[in-house]
Parts: sequence; C-alpha cells; structure tokens
Amino acid sequence: MKDFSFVLPKVKKADQGKEKIIVTYKGKTKELLTHNYAEIYKIPGLYENLFYDTLACQSPKVVCGLLNKAINGSRSDSDELVALDVGAGNGMVGEELAQIGFDTVLGIDIIEEAAEATDRDRPGIYDAYYVEDLTALPDDVESEIVGKNPNCMSIVAALGFDDIPPEAFASGYNLIADDGWIAFNIKDEFLQENHPSGFSKLIGEMVDANIMEIVEKKRYQHRLCLDGTPLNYYAVVGRKQEPISDKVIRQYQ
Ligand SMILES: C[S@@+](CC[C@H](N)C(=O)[O-])C[C@H]1O[C@@H](n2cnc3c(N)ncnc32)[C@H](O)[C@@H]1O
Repeated sequence: MKDFSFVLPKVKKADQGKEKIIVTYKGKTKELLTHNYAEIYKIPGLYENLFYDTLACQSPKVVCGLLNKAINGSRSDSDELVALDVGAGNGMVGEELAQIGFDTVLGIDIIEEAAEATDRDRPGIYDAYYVEDLTALPDDVESEIVGKNPNCMSIVAALGFDDIPPEAFASGYNLIADDGWIAFNIKDEFLQENHPSGFSKLIGEMVDANIMEIVEKKRYQHRLCLDGTPLNYYAVVGRKQEPISDKVIRQYQ
C-alpha cells in the first residue's frame, strides 16, 4: 500500500516541468514541481503514480517498442546488445530494455536519488549505474563506459528542459559503437526549424551529413500536462553512421 498522497491543484494553464503538486508523505506535506526529480524519487512509488498512472506517460514503452521493432528488422541473432541509458532516473527505461532483450544495460543520471531509487525499486536492472553529469563526464568514467562497448544509447524524457542539452547528446552519441542504435524522445516543437533548444539544428545536421540514419520516427502523446493538455513528442530510433566531429560539437557549447 502506498504511504503518500498528492493533490494536483486545478489550474487553467500550466508550464511543463513547473506544474505544482502538493505531496503528503510520512505526515509531512510539501509543495513540489513536477521536475523536482530528486524529491520525487525519494518517495517510493510517487514517480510512477504521478507521471504514469495519473498523467498517462507512456514514453519508455513507446520508445523501447520502436527500438525493438528497428532491431528486429535488422539484427542478426548473435549481436550482443549493450545499452547506455542516459537520464536513467529510477530505472523504468532500463526495465524495458531488459525486457526487449538487452544483455547489458548501463545507466547514467546526474542525481544520487535516482540511483538510490533504482536500487530500492528495481535492483539489478542496470549492470552499472553512474551518478554523473553527461555534460561533464570524468575521463575514467568515459573510458569505463567505452570499454563496455555500448551499441545503443537511450534517452527518454531527458532532452531539453534544463536536463540534457544538445552538446551532451552529441558527446553521449560518440560513446556508442559505429552502427549502434540511438533511441530517444523529444518534444515535437524542439524539432521545428530554428527552435532555440538547438536540437532541430543538431539532429538536422546529423541526418544531412549522414552521421545518423533515422530508422523509425513516430509522433505520440508523451503525457498530459497538469492543465489537461496533451504533451506531444517524437519517438526516434536512429543508427549511428559515424561520430560527430569536435567542430560540430563546439557549435553547441
Ligand atoms: C524525466 S526523468 C526521465 C527518467 C527516465 N528516463 C524515465 O523515462 O522514466 C529525466 C532524468 O534526466 C536526468 N538528467 C538531467 N540532466 C542530466 C545530465 N546532465 N546528465 C545525466 N542525467 C541527467 C535527471 O536527473 C532525471 O532523472
């Protein structure tokens, strides 16, 4: 039985990530914002109950389902699948990756509470979990990850919104083997031409220069905003063709 409750104050308009929730846990009530991940992960079951059961998030299943479809369309059975799950949170994507047949799943998240929640709620899902900022990965951690030969990078619900910026996406991309899979989702408007987030420019440049081939792309409802409006995203599965040059990465720093 869950030992928390929350109230979602009714609002006419809410900003994604800044939606207010009033949570009561162990007799204490406090106001949080939906992107206060550290606080949310500390309360067992709150992340799942809030985003999945209440706000109808379906992204881990949609993105991993699309990845599975792409892999099944091209993979030889002998391929060992090793994923680097970026912005891994409390392990919901890692769980899906294991279910679709990944042999090894590595996680990385900037928040210690994410690693603690994964250990608490989904122990053993990741073969290694690094509490690191992808925008400033220490050399020894980078070498360790590369040494495990990841041939897939997943990033679900973690691009933009003060989470993972374009240059970190590019650096993570370069840790993956050539020919590796890239599975991510991104808010639909971020892929509109000249969007200030920089993602449309980076991804457009990667596709035009044949650095990444897009294998699958689908627009879908990521979740509801607290004001009831749908938040539409693209789920994208790409295949790495070659690394992104330092010259290109520097444009986004
Ligand atoms: C909405 S959560 C998504 C968690 C998980 N992927 C899921 O779909 O349930 C976004 C996660 O990205 C992480 N994150 C944000 N910036 C990051 C960075 N620079 N490096 C690594 N992780 C980051 C956050 O700590 C947070 O746990």
